[in-house]
Amino acid sequence: MKFRAAELADLPFLIEIQSQWPTLPQWIADGFRKEIAGSPRSYLAVLEDEEAILGFGGLWIIPPEAQVTTLAIARSRSRRGWGRRLLRHLIGEAVRRGAGTVALEAAADNEPALRLYGSEGFRIVGRRPKLYNGAVDAVLMELSCRRP
Ligand SMILES: CC(C)(COP(=O)(O)OP(=O)(O)OC[C@H]1O[C@@H](n2cnc3c(N)ncnc32)[C@H](O)[C@@H]1OP(=O)(O)O)[C@@H](O)C(=O)NCCC(=O)NCCS
Repeated sequence: MKFRAAELADLPFLIEIQSQWPTLPQWIADGFRKEIAGSPRSYLAVLEDEEAILGFGGLWIIPPEAQVTTLAIARSRSRRGWGRRLLRHLIGEAVRRGAGTVALEAAADNEPALRLYGSEGFRIVGRRPKLYNGAVDAVLMELSCRRP
């Protein structure tokens, strides 16, 4: 199992994984391409084993803040700790690039994601009403990575 920056050849697999989660806001191919092309402010990671890509996650980093832009694990590989590892990898990368805070948002009805983020220390800092499909609130969360 390893993490690496996403490459263009990964694109079909990333689109396939996100399509397995229809409630996840779907990025179009150009959205992925832009993140894969990268910039000093963005990072799109894949997690893979020797057989397949297990998931992907993205960051925008504008120190002292970073934002998790996307996170998904292949449905057939979910609930085995990969999402947590990928999130920790993203947090580590954000800190390495100078972030002191990592922010993200999740749909209020996305219990798996909210549980994962809460258990990794993210705190709820706000709510955007009816952001998803005009019906479901977005929960805004933050993690402080500063050392005491
Ligand atoms: C959210 C997601 C990335 C979690 O990845 P995962 O590999 O399945 O999760 P993990 O096995 O690492 O589990 C980590 C924690 O998440 C929570 N969790 C994961 N799946 C869950 C489920 N089906 N129900 C409740 N809690 C769940 C649990 O707290 C779990 O910890 P535990 O196993 O100690 O109980 C994955 O479900 C996913 O890709 N979902 C679709 C895309 C998405 O919603 N992304 C987040 C956008 S904000």
